[in-house]
Amino acid sequence: MAAVLKRTGQKMPLVGFGLWKVTKNTCADTVYAAIKAGYRLLDGAGDYGNEKEAGEGVRRAIADGLVKREDLFITSKLWNTFHAYDHAKTLAKKQLGLWGIDYFDLFLIHFPIALQYVDPNHRYPPEWFGDDGKVHLQNTSIQETWKAMEDLVDEGLAKNIGISNFNGSLILDVLRYARIEPQVLQVELHPYLTQEPLVQLAKQLGIALTAYSSFGPQSYVELGMDKNAESLLESSLIQNIGAEHRKSTGQVLLRWATQQGIAVIPKSNNIDRLAENLQCNSFNLSESELAQISSLNSNLRLNNPAEIDPRLAIFA
Ligand SMILES: NC(=O)c1ccc[n+]([C@@H]2O[C@H](COP(=O)([O-])OP(=O)(O)OC[C@H]3O[C@@H](n4cnc5c(N)ncnc54)[C@H](OP(=O)(O)O)[C@@H]3O)[C@@H](O)[C@H]2O)c1
Repeated sequence: MAAVLKRTGQKMPLVGFGLWKVTKNTCADTVYAAIKAGYRLLDGAGDYGNEKEAGEGVRRAIADGLVKREDLFITSKLWNTFHAYDHAKTLAKKQLGLWGIDYFDLFLIHFPIALQYVDPNHRYPPEWFGDDGKVHLQNTSIQETWKAMEDLVDEGLAKNIGISNFNGSLILDVLRYARIEPQVLQVELHPYLTQEPLVQLAKQLGIALTAYSSFGPQSYVELGMDKNAESLLESSLIQNIGAEHRKSTGQVLLRWATQQGIAVIPKSNNIDRLAENLQCNSFNLSESELAQISSLNSNLRLNNPAEIDPRLAIFA
């Protein structure tokens, strides 16, 4: 199952493997195992600090004949400190070098937030804070960054380009000047944050949607950022629906998204769980089950930069 991207007609798998917090020293083995299990989409980012290791896993899988490069759909993202035109171009090339590949299938602007440049030789990945522990904004417009993204397409370094953590008004603004329209929007989306208006807008515009943090609070427990929300993986509603279909709660949460045509990118450091997550499309939820799951919505956003610094309230 795949989403067909509008401009290139390229197929983006509906289930991919997320690389945020995939442990660095086992990342190459985990990526190799993910490809062996059947994953063809890898969702990385400069910020995840494991692009080199992920690339090692890819290279090993290719060398062992598991896949060819063209069988894979590799996504990466441009970090906030590299939004200036020249920095964006330079960093994309650096990231390709870390992965050891010639092009990304998809390159996204990670957040609509421009932070002061940090030389990668000084610190990489730079994360949110300067050396003084504070957040430093930079006046670079998304228009400037988007121009760099478009030029990466022209140079063959990115097959598709897109955006992440953008809201409706900003998406419409990008479309006013885009020479190459964003192909994909990646946002936090799970039954506690269903984002129906944004889903509808993306569908209207022909922008493919990828949901991140499909298991809701689970990913944020280890960061102390789960807001004490009830686990979706242990929700009695999801458990009952899973029992009905003889599927795990994780598979139900993923299918809830993919059945709406939304791609998912679950992350796991565990080989059994990552394999289980990939097998989420072999059953169908009823309309009533989809609606019951959606009714868990409480607009609970777990990944909100405003909590790092109130000036970063991009979802306000
Ligand atoms: N664009 C953005 O700003 C952005 C932000 C966040 C995430 N993302 C992307 O989206 C991907 C997925 O989001 P995420 O990593 O936040 O969260 P996620 O995939 O929703 O959840 C990962 C958590 O669930 C656990 N888990 C995985 N499979 C499980 C299963 N079958 N049963 C029980 N627990 C399971 C994992 O633990 P184990 O590892 O121990 O299995 C981990 O704690 C990321 O890896 C990243 O690629 C993008």
